[in-house]
Amino acid sequence: MKKLLVCIALVLVSLSRCVESQLQVGFYKDSCGLAEFIIKDEVRKAFVKDRGLAAGLVRMHFHDCFVRGCEGSVLIDSTPSNTAEKDSPANNPSLRGFEVIDNAKARLEAMCKGVVSCADIVAFAARDSVEITGGFGYDVPAGRRDGRVSLASETQTNLPPPSFNVDQLTQMFTNKGFTQEEMVTLSGAHTIGRSHCTSFSNRLYSFNTTVNQDPSLDPTYATMLKQQCPQGSNPNLVVSMDPPSPNMMDTSYYQGIVANRGLFTSDQTLLTNSATANQVTQNARNPFIWKNNFAAAMVKMGKIGVLTGSAGEIRVNCRVING
Ligand code: HEM
Repeated sequence: MKKLLVCIALVLVSLSRCVESQLQVGFYKDSCGLAEFIIKDEVRKAFVKDRGLAAGLVRMHFHDCFVRGCEGSVLIDSTPSNTAEKDSPANNPSLRGFEVIDNAKARLEAMCKGVVSCADIVAFAARDSVEITGGFGYDVPAGRRDGRVSLASETQTNLPPPSFNVDQLTQMFTNKGFTQEEMVTLSGAHTIGRSHCTSFSNRLYSFNTTVNQDPSLDPTYATMLKQQCPQGSNPNLVVSMDPPSPNMMDTSYYQGIVANRGLFTSDQTLLTNSATANQVTQNARNPFIWKNNFAAAMVKMGKIGVLTGSAGEIRVNCRVING
């Protein structure tokens, strides 16, 4: 009887591991040994040409994973009968780096046809981008397969808008299996990259019915932002999200929040709750701790809703579902 119970327990443990994640570090070791190297090489080449692409690729992985899981749906092009995720306001015109994925995919298809999924390429490229901008590198469990559906409408309910407050952000991240602490950790990605003026101009010009400018925004910073983003200006204008070090994975994002220089409401709101405020202050002082936590949270994000085994497909062209 005792032996039987031990056996059942062992089976349950291995089953739960199996359900938890079927991804594996080194997944392409035998099937396409140079896969990770080639992707890193493409990220490096792109970064040399345009350093902002690293930020684009980190955000791409986030936007892929939060909508239908990390299955490459963010890469699919719209068709006459379907508006895809990439053409929703959350992604168009802001999401960038698609060509980096295309270039890596082309080389991988030439070398090991039909083996490396687009979803994995995005996950590896995000890791390489974190690393190249000064964050900690981390092992990426792989073996994701590509989805066959991409709907613009699904971005609205799954991606947080920059107007969200801390409770709304916490709820949205909880829906994806994250703690509030992990939400604060992941928000630190805004230490690199840029934003279109349109994503925060309400904080400068039309905050609410009583004041035009968000009173929680440092007035000197607001003046600077108004110069960069004049009212009613070209919607293509962009600013750095972390002006002191726009291409560095450091904790200056958190230092900015402490100084009331968070760019979005969703950044500055982290100071309005005692637990998140505490974490913001800790992260501002401890780059090592934040970088470590960030790497772990990225690995966790990369496991959301993945397709493995025989589910989905390995897309030939990341922009088009296989015929
Ligand atoms: C917490 C909720 C979040 C909100 C509300 C949010 C919102 C935004 C917005 C509005 C932009 C600017 C888009 C533009 O106008 O060009 C942006 C940029 C960015 N976001 Fe987030 N984001 C969030 C979380 C995250 C997470 C979890 C990551 C990654 C782990 C991330 C990575 C980035 C990066 C790297 C950029 C810069 C992209 C570039 O330079 O191309 N964000 N985010």
